[in-house]
Amino acid sequence: MRKRALLQLLLAALAHACWGADGAQLAERCNECHGPGGRSENPKVPSIGGFSDFAIMDLLEMYASGQRPARPAKLADGTETDMNEIVQALAVEEIEAVALYYSEQRWRPHAQAFDAALARRGAVVHSRKCAKCHPKGGSVPEVDLAITAGQWREYLETEFRNFDAGTRPMTAKMQRKYETLSATDKRAIIEFYVSAGDF
Ligand code: HEC
Ligand code: HEC
Repeated sequence: MRKRALLQLLLAALAHACWGADGAQLAERCNECHGPGGRSENPKVPSIGGFSDFAIMDLLEMYASGQRPARPAKLADGTETDMNEIVQALAVEEIEAVALYYSEQRWRPHAQAFDAALARRGAVVHSRKCAKCHPKGGSVPEVDLAITAGQWREYLETEFRNFDAGTRPMTAKMQRKYETLSATDKRAIIEFYVSAGDF
């Protein structure tokens, strides 16, 4: 996947030089839902500002291919659309430009109330089963995955339900670990992400 992403980056750099896809301008549309600079004001919509460009490209690729089915969401003018539809309308160089824009924003965890005891349990389970790929509670953009530390609880809960139902696919290696989690482990890990390690 990295190699393909790298190729996309080179192509995008070339396209940028020729036609100049403007990431900040493209992101204005995204920010109607994802918030200014990709910091979402709606707990149903994930914050994405501060993810790495590779992470954004990979996530968009999952929507483009339809592997990750999207939920319907409303634009500011009330029009209903979803991530699958949005990504299909973008050219490769636009995806790269918008990904680069979000990678240049700063991740700011959402301060949310949380259950500290449960978060501590979540930290233990996470470090044993998940931290290899999602180090430091999922707060490290350089691993090229979605940041989970300080993400909205409501969004996280929905994604865990989608993983449980199989409507959002996981890589086999993650699935093997995920399937060993009890319902309480899952709640605890979500609480740990919500706490952003602040307990
Ligand atoms: C109409 C609202 C809306 C617009 C516009 C929108 N998004 Fe989204 N986006 C969502 C919602 C809701 C989700 C999460 C639920 C889902 O999977 O459908 C999401 C998920 C994502 C994710 C996955 C985040 C993660 O943690 O897994 C990325 C990346 C993303 N959007 C990027 C973009 C980009 C880039 C644009 C602009 C080209 C954009 N979005 C425009 C609503 C929107
Ligand atoms: C072998 C590496 C690996 C392990 C271990 C792993 N994950 Fe993941 N995880 C991934 C990858 C790759 C993705 C992105 C998949 C995608 O976008 O479809 C991901 C995505 C996620 C997401 C979605 C974030 C978002 O906003 O899109 C969550 C939540 C998550 N993992 C939680 C966990 C939990 C909890 C565990 C431990 C039980 C775990 N992961 C273990 C590799 C891993």
